[in-house]
Amino acid sequence: MTRFSIIAGRSLLCRIVFGSLTCCAVVLPGLAQGPAKTLLVGVDRRSVTSLNGDWHYLVDQPPAKGLYTAAGKVRDNGYGLNTHPNINSGPHNEEYDFATAPTLKVPGDWNTQDPTLFRYEGVVWYERDFDFQPVPNTRAYLHIGAANYKSFVWVNQKRICDHEGGFTPFDCEVTSALKPGANFVVIAVDSTREVDGIPSVGIDWFNYGGLTRDVSLVTLPTRFIDDYDIHLKHESTFSSSNANTLAGYVHVEGAAEGTAVTLRIPEAGVNTTLKTDADGRASFEVKAANLQLWSPETPKLYKVELVSGDDRLADDIGFRDIRVDGTRILLNGKSIFLQGANAHAEAPYRTGRACTDEDVKNIFAFLKDLNANFVRLAHYPHDERMERTADREGIMVWSEIPLWQHISFEKPEVYAKATYMLNEMIRRDRNKASVIFWSVSNETPNNPARTQFLTNLANEARRLDPTRLVTSALIGPHVKGNEAVQDDPLADALDVVGQNEYIGWYERRPEDADNVKWTLPNKPILISEFGAEAKQGVHGGIDQRWAEEQQVNVYEHQFVMINKIPQVRGLVPWVLMDFRSPTRNIPKLQDGFNRKGLISEDGKKKQAFFLFQKTYKERSVGKE
Ligand code: GCU
Repeated sequence: MTRFSIIAGRSLLCRIVFGSLTCCAVVLPGLAQGPAKTLLVGVDRRSVTSLNGDWHYLVDQPPAKGLYTAAGKVRDNGYGLNTHPNINSGPHNEEYDFATAPTLKVPGDWNTQDPTLFRYEGVVWYERDFDFQPVPNTRAYLHIGAANYKSFVWVNQKRICDHEGGFTPFDCEVTSALKPGANFVVIAVDSTREVDGIPSVGIDWFNYGGLTRDVSLVTLPTRFIDDYDIHLKHESTFSSSNANTLAGYVHVEGAAEGTAVTLRIPEAGVNTTLKTDADGRASFEVKAANLQLWSPETPKLYKVELVSGDDRLADDIGFRDIRVDGTRILLNGKSIFLQGANAHAEAPYRTGRACTDEDVKNIFAFLKDLNANFVRLAHYPHDERMERTADREGIMVWSEIPLWQHISFEKPEVYAKATYMLNEMIRRDRNKASVIFWSVSNETPNNPARTQFLTNLANEARRLDPTRLVTSALIGPHVKGNEAVQDDPLADALDVVGQNEYIGWYERRPEDADNVKWTLPNKPILISEFGAEAKQGVHGGIDQRWAEEQQVNVYEHQFVMINKIPQVRGLVPWVLMDFRSPTRNIPKLQDGFNRKGLISEDGKKKQAFFLFQKTYKERSVGKE
């Protein structure tokens, strides 16, 4: 067991035991309870009581007196108590009432549901009633797929937990707060951006607030499987002839040493019983029979059954090997070239935070039509449906925590937050074969505090998951003459280097790219962002900015440049689809949207889409 302690802020330690988040005593500034105590893996594979649907809501505008005291602490007697005003008689009391308040759909951001909240950043309170019949010898957890940005949870007037981070799941035990029959849950969500937040305050996407992913009640036996990692053993070298050893662990919360855990993968001839150690963790290595490895061509998933005591869980897991060899990326021992796109979690057609089966189906329809085999989920973990679909569709994934550009890298409490967000991301998706990269950041300033912070974080990602590759998207250098020299020391900490560059849009002319000579680290390089804006339907010369023809011209010259860089192993144009960003304010051209999409937000394909569709089909740029 590796103990990793962080002195966080004005308070205690966060102890993250190797491979699992067993407890977080950290109390970060702004959170009275610290992050939730457990993190249930495979919740979407359990039968749960969904709390999706209509929730009453009340807006608590700054200074949000229903939530915070004048000193900024969380109130114990705020709206979380869900009391009702004495309207007709009796003494005057609190002036709020959920019972007669309007409703919002959960999951979903509030910005695109209530026009009066479109640009609102602050606290919105959510409340819903639900019936519950406790089952003896079980424990109950409230599971929240994501809530942007800070959340504070009460059940039946009891303060339960807090969470910070707008894009990763959390679970809070509510066993002792629930009662037979009528219950209610109240959640305050504060979407206010903070300088010491992750991300910080200056972002180039829309800060959609709210309970933006599924909410459910999970009933579990007193001892239950809360975490597992089942993967193809990562040998020192890969050989397809003996790629048949599975390894990992199953963690049983509350289990005594020696508790039995059964691991069955019928189609792979695996049926073995494990025993937990003193920490409830059962590690294993087991031979599988005639394993078909996961790949874009054969996205094979196996039914994996886990049983321990009264708990059972079945997941669908693919097995594959990903590693680098010099400047190549090897999937199952074969060199690959990633043909993809960046995607924000913007819902096609309807806009808003993508969070439904329909949204995910639409995004993957675009990717398949593009002939893509890869997607960078920018700049934060997306809804879990994205990785589930990528597993099934054979699309490889770059997953990233939102350390975007300017972050308070000099603050230990910010490192503590980044560490548990990284842990939440890895824990949720480590069993998804489609995820091949963990990214620790995007376009951060090259200075010693940031490089140390992100180097530590990259090493933490490797410690949590030694089977995947660690990357980050670097910005710069600017082109000097015809030279571009990438010498960011952060590259030393990465397995694969993402290089963002906008030659032809933010700097120089498109045709200048033809003569640019790049000096890059001798590692696999992805051009992780490149492109130009175009408003769909605007046509003109190749020098007319925001014309579709101009966007194509930028890419055509980019391809000439990229084809001269031997270690490029992937193309990731910015961006699959136009997305909302309040900083994009040219009327009639942007109207609050970043227009670098290959597709407009209402699903209309631009000429550049068809350029990539053809390039990817013919594999005419870059080589494996
Ligand atoms: C940056 C950044 C993106 C941003 C893009 C742009 O590279 O990573 O988040 O949207 O450029 O300016 O359009």
